[in-house]
Formats: sequence, structure tokens, C-alpha cells
Amino acid sequence: MITRREYLKLSALAGVALAINPKLLLADDSPREVITRVIPGTSERLPVVGLGSSASFSRVAGEGDTDRIRAVLQALVEHGGKVFDTAPSYGEAEGVAGRVAREAGLAQRLFWATKLNVVPRGGDTADVDAARAQLEQSFARIGKDPIDLVQVHNMADPPTQLGLLNEYKQAGRIRYVGITTTFPRQYADLEALMRNEPLDFIGVDYAIDNRTMEERIFPLAAERGIGVLVYAPFGRRRLWEQVEGKQVPEWAAEWDIATWGQFFLKFVVSNPVVTAATPSTSRPEHMIDNLGAATGRLPDEAGRQRMVEYVAALD
Ligand SMILES: NC(=O)c1ccc[n+]([C@@H]2O[C@H](COP(=O)([O-])OP(=O)(O)OC[C@H]3O[C@@H](n4cnc5c(N)ncnc54)[C@H](OP(=O)(O)O)[C@@H]3O)[C@@H](O)[C@H]2O)c1
Repeated sequence: MITRREYLKLSALAGVALAINPKLLLADDSPREVITRVIPGTSERLPVVGLGSSASFSRVAGEGDTDRIRAVLQALVEHGGKVFDTAPSYGEAEGVAGRVAREAGLAQRLFWATKLNVVPRGGDTADVDAARAQLEQSFARIGKDPIDLVQVHNMADPPTQLGLLNEYKQAGRIRYVGITTTFPRQYADLEALMRNEPLDFIGVDYAIDNRTMEERIFPLAAERGIGVLVYAPFGRRRLWEQVEGKQVPEWAAEWDIATWGQFFLKFVVSNPVVTAATPSTSRPEHMIDNLGAATGRLPDEAGRQRMVEYVAALD
């Protein structure tokens, strides 16, 4: 749900009156409680919706539009979000976000999730010195030591790169370590690592029309006590293209869903294994919209099923 003041702010930012079911506007501006999840094995809680930074965010950072980047990061923090997912390979994203966050006094308020990967294209081994240099570059860019979470990007040379991350963790410079993939051909190897390595997090793709994770990886994450960051919760542009020109169904109001962004994200974060979803956006109004999915009621199992069927039936 959003407050009337937020609705007016969003409409002004978007330059149009937004088509939001009036039943979903809160009558007052009382702060809304943000839904959080505990990081398995700890008492630390994270808001279930955060921000990713490849795609459009990285494009805007690359164009040097620091005002937009600042506005998105401010919207994230002001509306109760915290997790910011980035990587050295996302163009200017990590560097620009780090600088802007420091200047705006936000760096220490964010949960920074960055990545490590120095395996050359077409190769399969990482040079340890190059990996150390990349990590030190992330420390310099982000301005936070320890960094909250560093994950091996795309399953690249885990023995070397995860080994190094564990070394940094032992030294107190990284709080949590993990590994990511959004490639189905790497899921079996990810599963093996989840069984054999002490991982704090995985970062994987999951969306209402992309639910392979439910079969093996999510149950294993629950069993092993591994936190889950969800990537590509909109399938980047895929789901937006599917719902273009279509209204969110009225019955979604039962779970305080006012927009398609909230529909897709509430599906994702209502899976109890998910610690946080990190949709990417380059627009503050979308950031506020997305954080709306971290408030109000979440669908139960029957509701989730209804949502899946509804989206699958759209042409
Ligand atoms: N292997 C890995 O480690 C890996 C792989 C993939 C992704 N990731 C992480 O996960 C993040 C998310 O994935 P993604 O960026 O690929 O795709 P995504 O989050 O599924 O989709 C991003 C797209 O959705 C649009 N969008 C966001 N909020 C919106 C809203 N409320 N209304 C309308 N449009 C909206 C964005 O455009 P606007 O800018 O216009 O909002 C952008 O085009 C990445 O940025 C990255 O941090 C990691």
C-alpha cells in the first residue's frame, strides 16, 4: 500500500496521474512496516526488497547521470530498503553507486552485496593476485570495510575465488560469502557447492514465469541454512512485455498489490526461502513502487498458485 503523499510524489515523478486502485491508498502518512527476513543462522534481518544494478541502473551510471543514481539510492533507503546488489563487471555501477552513496551519507546504511570474478572470458581459472586486486578495488569504491556480502560471480573458479573470499571473511573484512548463477547449465554444480561448502548466500534467478529454483535449489537452501538473493525477478524486460497494456487483476488487492511490479515481486518474496529480491531500476518512482511489495499482506500458497496461472494465461 502507498500513502496519499507518496502517490502524489510518484505521480509527479512519472509526470502523469498513476492508475492505482484508490482502495490501496493509505488514508494517512503513518510509516508502513517493511517486511524483513532473517539471514539464516544469524539474528540479522534484511528488507525483502532491495535494488540491483546491472541493466538500466548500470546504463544510467555509465551515462554519468549521478543525480538519477542518487535519487534511486535515496528512494531505496528512505522507503525502508537496504540491500544493494552490484558487481565490478556492471560497467560504472559499483564505482558510481559507491561514490554517490558516500557523498549522500548512505554508504553505511546499505547492505552491500558485490561480487568477485577475474576469470578471463573463455578461461576457467582465476589469478589470485588479480582477484585480490579486484576485491581491494571494491573496498575503495564502496568505502565500507567490512563489505557485507561478496559472492563469486557466475560460478567462476570456486576453489580459487571462494577460497579467497573465505580468507577475507576469516580476516573480518567480508561479513558473508556466497556464489551466484543465473545459467541453468550451472545449477547442478551450484547444488554440489551448496552441499559441500559453507555458503552464507546464493544469488539466483527466480520469477513468476521462471520457477526452476523451487524444484531443488530452494529446498536445499532451506535445508542447509543458506540465504537467497533473487535476481531478475521481472526477467529483465520479459514480464513487462507480457503485461504491457494490461491491468493488474482486481483480486490482487487482497494482498495489497497495486501495480504489476508489486504483483511480480510479491510472488517472489512470498516464497519463505527468499531472503531478498534485488530488482534493478534506474528510476526513483520504480524503486518506491518496488518497495511497496515489501509492505502489507503477502499471498498464501493458494494465492501464489492463482498468480502463476493468471500470468501463464496472458497472451
Ligand atoms: N549472475 C548474477 O550475479 C546476476 C545475474 C542477473 C542479475 N543479477 C542481479 O539482479 C539484478 C536484477 O536483475 P536484472 O537487472 O537482470 O532484471 P530485473 O530486475 O528483472 O528487471 C530490470 C528491468 O525492470 C525494469 N523495472 C524495474 N522496476 C520497475 C517497475 N516498478 N516498473 C516498471 N519497470 C521496472 C527496469 O527498468 P527501469 O530502469 O525503467 O525501472 C529494468 O529494465 C541485477 O541488476 C543484478 O544486480 C545478478
